[in-house]
Amino acid sequence: MKLNIAVLPGDGIGPEVTAQAVKVLKAIAMEFNHVFTFKKALIGASAIDKTGHPLPEETIDVCKGSDAILFGAIGHTKYNNDTSTNVRPEQGLLELRKTFDLYSNIRPVIAYDDLLHKSSLKVKQIRGTNILIYRELTGGIYFGDKTFSEDGNRATDICSYSRFEIERIAHQAFKAAQSRKRKLTLVDKANVLASSKLWRRVVLEIASQYPDVELKCIYIDNAAMELIINPKQFDVILTENMFGDILSEEASVIVGSIGLLASASKGDKHVMFEPIHGAYTKAANKGIANPIASILSAALLLDHFGLVDEAALIRAGVDKSLHLQITTPDLNTKYDHITTTKVGDFIEDFINNPNETNLNFKNIHLGQSTII
Ligand code: IPM
Ligand code: MN
Repeated sequence: MKLNIAVLPGDGIGPEVTAQAVKVLKAIAMEFNHVFTFKKALIGASAIDKTGHPLPEETIDVCKGSDAILFGAIGHTKYNNDTSTNVRPEQGLLELRKTFDLYSNIRPVIAYDDLLHKSSLKVKQIRGTNILIYRELTGGIYFGDKTFSEDGNRATDICSYSRFEIERIAHQAFKAAQSRKRKLTLVDKANVLASSKLWRRVVLEIASQYPDVELKCIYIDNAAMELIINPKQFDVILTENMFGDILSEEASVIVGSIGLLASASKGDKHVMFEPIHGAYTKAANKGIANPIASILSAALLLDHFGLVDEAALIRAGVDKSLHLQITTPDLNTKYDHITTTKVGDFIEDFINNPNETNLNFKNIHLGQSTII
């Protein structure tokens, strides 16, 4: 298969982790005789620094000419306390999602047996967790009208949703549930918010078209608690933009590190694949950033194009690296010498030689034999 992939590394740790995902995709292309071409473009703080805009026209053109976008991370700490309404790096990502109508953000949350003890939660509560979050990505409070009063003492953000915006992602979430445990949970705040009332009405209506799916509707405050008390009760979660942002980051506690969570952002014409983590500016260029979320985002990209064996091979490489503790320091307290690049190299080599023994991997890639 031929695929043109737009690569938007972005800011902070984005370039380092994205480089590992590209490396892994190149190994897959070699192994399976695909032709993947990569074209880089600027976004975020690095784009502001170079062009004055967080999403330059040229980047939009590169994305338009691609089959898929691979995105890294966005943001910079220098903007943290900047509350002016001036241009911010995050606008680049939001504009990108809007421009390409990437309304459905799919975030898998899977607890790895090898990492259960890394979570702050109890092992018996999280073992076996496998949740798919459908986060609406182009509507809600993120994109509603925003105002700042002239005296600077009042501000508003409008949370607005139309039936159409809810329907299109709801159908996807119901269909995903049909192919899983047939359980869908709508998370809203329908006891207070008008937009949530519309979500609930529309989703309850649609439910009659999916009689094999058990639908539950719960409030966001309750969901935030249930997600860490008993994550296994969830199969597919459907929710609006901001609730999905918060819940998915909370869910990373189950998995052990936010550096593991990948996502796919899909529209009807375009697709993008992005880790859920941010730019983590202070970790940039230190070789400590976990590349797995980016590598697993690449696996989601392959899944999207039906390259399921290829995606499975990447996941097997990730599993192996976690099992052997060939991981960055966020997960690895035992060995502090395993860098972002080494994790990528390990998974790349696994793809090239999936049947090698563990011992060889360790010796070749770590240059030592002490951690057998
Ligand atoms: C995410 C991020 C973004 C969001 C930011 C960087 C705008 O937190 O992808 O979850 O809030 O959607
Ligand atoms: Mn987020």
